[in-house]
Amino acid sequence: MKKPVLITGAAGFIGFHLCKNLLNNGYKVIGLDNLNRYYDIKLKEKRLELLNIAEDKKKANWVFKKVDLTDQENILEIFKTYNPDVVINLAAQAGVRYSLDNPKEYINSNIVGFSNLLECCRFFKVKNLIYASSSSVYGGNTKFPFSENDSASHPVSLYAATKRSNELLAHSYSHLYGIPCTGVRFFTVYGPWGRPDMAPMIFTEAIINRKPLKIFNYGKSSRSFTFIDDVIEILVKLISKPSFADKSFDTSKPNQSSSWCPHRILNIGNENSIGILEFLQKIEKELGLEAIKEFESIQKGDVIKTSSDNTIINELIGIQKKTPLEKGVKIFIDWYKNYYK
Ligand SMILES: NC(=O)c1ccc[n+]([C@@H]2O[C@H](COP(=O)([O-])OP(=O)(O)OC[C@H]3O[C@@H](n4cnc5c(N)ncnc54)[C@H](O)[C@@H]3O)[C@@H](O)[C@H]2O)c1
Repeated sequence: MKKPVLITGAAGFIGFHLCKNLLNNGYKVIGLDNLNRYYDIKLKEKRLELLNIAEDKKKANWVFKKVDLTDQENILEIFKTYNPDVVINLAAQAGVRYSLDNPKEYINSNIVGFSNLLECCRFFKVKNLIYASSSSVYGGNTKFPFSENDSASHPVSLYAATKRSNELLAHSYSHLYGIPCTGVRFFTVYGPWGRPDMAPMIFTEAIINRKPLKIFNYGKSSRSFTFIDDVIEILVKLISKPSFADKSFDTSKPNQSSSWCPHRILNIGNENSIGILEFLQKIEKELGLEAIKEFESIQKGDVIKTSSDNTIINELIGIQKKTPLEKGVKIFIDWYKNYYK
């Protein structure tokens, strides 16, 4: 019988979509989340409700645990009970701007919580740990597109620093205990059931409610907007492709993305970087309404541009088709209208 996949952050945006996909494909899934109130808790509860309903039809493949990653005792209990082969860590205090005023939340969930998870992966000999990192680790880099082989040593937010720390912590566990680890650097993920603190939701909400919309960096920023289904497709593929030692790794000229131990880092993002105003236009067009724009300077902690180099992931799993922006925005807006009535 297949051992379950443990997914942390299961009530979150990416976690919910991943759990749904895996349950539909016959996996046993243990979902874990502390259901924090960083954003509207109803959205998280509704996502869980859908996972419960979906599972009602099949029974027994889905277990949800409301646990905080910092609660070492209960995390250990989950590993003892279910002994997962695959662990996917999506739980984190996300968001760049919130980290300016709430650093402790990031240290607790992203550093202390992740360390607890690593300890369990070590003791229970997990065969594949996939953990969420972020394109924000590229910080002040201006060489585009961002490659995993570029330096990621100059973060411009505490959030980015905690994500980069995760990569370094995971590398040390991979070296010391042979745990196959894959750090995935997500680039601005959007789609149905998305996060209310991110641009697509903020833009849509402001436009529909005829509220002024602050556009930072005078609209000159751009992002590799990546549709949620494309992200999930890659994560599912990585479940059956645990990391492995890079036989050609040269310690005298170490590349940044792989290692002599089974640790690797992969970008998961769209190759096309889209200007923030172009993205806004797509939303305006879909809604048939214009935003009331207020241009402002760049916010502390923000990066100007992100752009994903997909050479390494393409070599690993083949070139992945990407959902065109118009289509992705339409699916997102249709969901938004339906959900928020
Ligand atoms: N969405 C993106 O564009 C994006 C981009 C880069 C990186 N990421 C990373 O991907 C992961 C998933 O992102 P998301 O967009 O789904 O975020 P999300 O906030 O919707 O999901 C994270 C979930 O983790 C839970 N959580 C937070 N701290 C926890 C803790 N200490 N213990 C247990 N649960 C906890 C939250 O309640 C939430 O449901 C995060 O690690 C995030 O940093 C996301």
